[in-house]
Amino acid sequence: MNTSEQLRSTVVRAFEERFGEPPVFVARAPGRVNLIGEHTDYNEGFVLPMAIDRAVWIALRPRADRKVSVYSLDFQEEDSFDICHLASSGKGWIEYLQAMAWALQKKDRGLAGWEGVTAGDVPIGAGLSSSAALELATARAFAAVDGFAWNPREMAQLAQRAENEWVGVYCGIMDQMISATGEAGHALLIDCRTLDTRSVPLPPGTAVVILDTSTRRGLVDSAYNDRRRHCETAAGFLHVRALRDVDPATFEARSAEMEPVMRRRARHVVTEIARTLEAADALERGDAATVGRLMDASHASLRDDFEVSRVELDTIVELAQAHPACYGARMTGAGFGGCAVALVRADGAAAFAEGVAADYQARTGLEPRVYVCSASDGASIEPLSTAGAL
Ligand code: GLA
Repeated sequence: MNTSEQLRSTVVRAFEERFGEPPVFVARAPGRVNLIGEHTDYNEGFVLPMAIDRAVWIALRPRADRKVSVYSLDFQEEDSFDICHLASSGKGWIEYLQAMAWALQKKDRGLAGWEGVTAGDVPIGAGLSSSAALELATARAFAAVDGFAWNPREMAQLAQRAENEWVGVYCGIMDQMISATGEAGHALLIDCRTLDTRSVPLPPGTAVVILDTSTRRGLVDSAYNDRRRHCETAAGFLHVRALRDVDPATFEARSAEMEPVMRRRARHVVTEIARTLEAADALERGDAATVGRLMDASHASLRDDFEVSRVELDTIVELAQAHPACYGARMTGAGFGGCAVALVRADGAAAFAEGVAADYQARTGLEPRVYVCSASDGASIEPLSTAGAL
């Protein structure tokens, strides 16, 4: 049994203990790691994430009334809300469920009540999208009890809206899109303007390794919103709708008069979009060396131009890049803490994970978590039985 199957059994067992019968559905939605294309989604650019084998699970059954009531094994608490009277309590994990109910109701969905048990193994605040996973698992739960058809793109958009407007985090579409539409064994090139996707197989003989620095950040941090604002100002300065509309050569020619900070922020975005497209092509050719080189360049750009790294991320990335099994490494997610990602030779992955973890701990005194991850499918629903269905 792998860890994700274990977690599925854990929520099913906990459900049975609580409700005295098996759940009717089990919803699952994965976290993600972004291989390249950072801070490009809200500039209508390209990203190249994959859904990972860590997820949020919800075992549930419908209710006759309009209540959603859930026990969280991770937080060891029960919380609930009335779907006819949504009201932000401003606290914790239940907000993501309420947020999703609110966004679904904008489309006349999410109107049937349900109850269940949830647990997840996507670390919180680590840059692996635990909140998108919770949103999409919740959306799957609502779709199952309401009986509406599952449209992954639409659900990703609603989840983003939930996060922007209810939770108050002004994120882009990447996390929700990949949690909804991920594909086992593949990364997904997402055009964040059109939401078109192209699935790209991971090169044979390679492994994707997540390196968690054990530092954390809050996304609500004003730094993320500041970056967004700088990018919008830069697009305005260049007279384009979004930075996606500027190629690196045009940018170099036209950016001379830009204020230096804005120029650096915009340069990251413009060059990162070009790197992401190049990386997708290289992945498709099985050219791991080129992907690795682009990942290294992405990290330097995030560190120096976009300034969203921190010393622990730089340290773990340097140690990873210096390892002989490594093609390339970079910080992943919003930054300011959390995880890095490395593309490594599969046959050297175990030694890489052990070596980098030991060196990082020796350098920083922090205990990292380093694990090989595999690309998984996006959000799913498993109907278990009709017992208890109303
Ligand atoms: C967070 C946001 C995403 C994206 C990344 C940075 O994960 O939720 O929309 O902007 O940061 O690439």
